[in-house]
Amino acid sequence: MLFRSPRGTKDILPEESFLWQEVEAAARAAFALSGFQEIRTPVLEESKLFSRSLGDLTDIVQKQMFLIKKETDTFVLRPEATAAIVRAYLENTLYSLSTVSKFYYIGPMFRAERPQRGRLRQFHHIGAEAIGSYHPYLDAEIVSLATGLLGKFGLSGFTTRLNTLGCLHDKKKFGLSLKERLTPLKKSFCEDCQSRLGHNIFRLLDCKNSQCRQIILSLNLGRGHLCGECVAHFEGVQEGLALLGVVTQVDPFLVRGLDYYTRTVFEITHAALGAQDALGAGGRYDNLVEELGGPARGACGFALGVERVFLARGSAPAAPVPAAQCYVVPLGAAALKKALETAEGVRAAGISCDLDYLEGSLKAKLRRADKTGARWCFIIGDNELAKGAGILKDMKAGSQQEVAFDRLAPTIKGQGA
Ligand code: HAM
Repeated sequence: MLFRSPRGTKDILPEESFLWQEVEAAARAAFALSGFQEIRTPVLEESKLFSRSLGDLTDIVQKQMFLIKKETDTFVLRPEATAAIVRAYLENTLYSLSTVSKFYYIGPMFRAERPQRGRLRQFHHIGAEAIGSYHPYLDAEIVSLATGLLGKFGLSGFTTRLNTLGCLHDKKKFGLSLKERLTPLKKSFCEDCQSRLGHNIFRLLDCKNSQCRQIILSLNLGRGHLCGECVAHFEGVQEGLALLGVVTQVDPFLVRGLDYYTRTVFEITHAALGAQDALGAGGRYDNLVEELGGPARGACGFALGVERVFLARGSAPAAPVPAAQCYVVPLGAAALKKALETAEGVRAAGISCDLDYLEGSLKAKLRRADKTGARWCFIIGDNELAKGAGILKDMKAGSQQEVAFDRLAPTIKGQGA
């Protein structure tokens, strides 16, 4: 073996990709029911799009972007899709439509993290973004859509934590007061938090180090930094969630690692995942459209990590890869010509059909046919060529019959494919 897939990337083989298709189909159906339409943006974006949207000092921008320099431009393999979708929304002047734009997306994201269980360098998001409304019920719908999808994927036992960061003004105020209170305690925090104090103070609130956690808990941080409108908005979100019957836990220490969030943030975790326990996350980003040069538009969205969905499901394949219905077995070169033609004719009639290309005795070929799981096996040898009819074996019933080459498709159909 000369090559392996790059560290932190994974081949999705047919048995597994079949399950991915099921998950994706369930997601597409759920999105369509809620009025979300698919958007596909490039995997390649300008790197500045993310430094501007996520924040220059965030972990993703500082450490995790796969950069590609070409002449004077610097591109990046997108680490997430929210910023790219806002970029597309602006570039295609979708803000001029007087509706809420509701997009969904399914695709790979890239982050140069240290790979571990549940943490890859190429992973996949199923996500949604609704741009064009500030209404708190939209946040509730987004949380409900995210948790509802997980249910449709067969997951239960996850926890949805919810918080509000307040508007930009509130965030600033909170950041300053945190700095004031936490700086004198600097030495008591873990190394990561000591550096976060300087540039990413909110991340101290959700540090998992037990000593950091204890200090934060002892500070009794209230909600005093929130303005009246943000308090009312958060109440509205919770009212919407109650109307939709979505259970969440309010967690005042939940912050997110991306700067664009304002007001509502949420994260869905599952105990089966271990250290990387987030199945998905999202929230409001009311200033991002303006930040990227557009008009003022409220927006809210989420993304689920598909690999983590499978990890949490403990993904034993739920169903085998569907086999071709018919497997044609030619014996010899002349028979192969007829087999090629016959298989194509059967497919044209809407019956899936595979063809045996390998050498071997009839017995070996039949064993192979059986292994594929095909219900029907059609054998063509010299005798059959001479007669203009092959032998159709019903692998389920163990019976067989002679069938003229041009009667194969109708015979299979007549017997319930
Ligand atoms: P995020 O929390 O960075 O949010 O990613 C969402 C989910 O992607 C995580 O909860 C996790 O399940 C999965 N994920 C993240 N990094 C990795 C990784 N290295 N390997 C495997 N899975 C991973 C966002 O990306 C936001 N754009 C979500 C959002 C949409 N907010 C508003 N709209």
